[in-house]
Amino acid sequence: MTAAQDEKKVLAVHGPNLNMLGMREPEIYGSTRLADIDAELSRLGRQWGIDVSAFQSNHEGEIVEAIQKHIGGIDGMIINPAAYTHTSIAIRDALVMLAVPVIEVHLSNIHRRESFRHTSLMADVVTGQVVGLGVNGYYLALRALADLLGHGQML
Ligand code: DQA
Repeated sequence: MTAAQDEKKVLAVHGPNLNMLGMREPEIYGSTRLADIDAELSRLGRQWGIDVSAFQSNHEGEIVEAIQKHIGGIDGMIINPAAYTHTSIAIRDALVMLAVPVIEVHLSNIHRRESFRHTSLMADVVTGQVVGLGVNGYYLALRALADLLGHGQML
């Protein structure tokens, strides 16, 4: 089987306020725009035989619906639920239904910040987490998914 035939699908989900990356508290979140992160994920994905698409919403229900819509249709997910990380049982429940590897990403180190950010309701239902490494966290998450999906030999 060629890599193209075996192409994997990954969805990157970005939660509220991440559409403002670049201008939003750059000292915490950096200066890279979300569109640039998504473009780099796509570029890396092509190298690794992974088709990466991206979705951003500021609305909890829309994120739940996007996850539901992709049940059975993707091989892995990268998600930064942003503020919903700390509050959303609904997004957590949707991730459980997804039943594919999920990597949770946070640009900032949520454990070094306010105590309300220390808890992730996703933590024990995701495959792994990357926190505090800025935009590299997204790229490392895709690298990990490539390995988990059997495309590690292409790296
Ligand atoms: C974040 C951390 C969250 O606490 C915050 O609400 C965000 C971004 C991060 O990527 O560091 O919006 O998920």
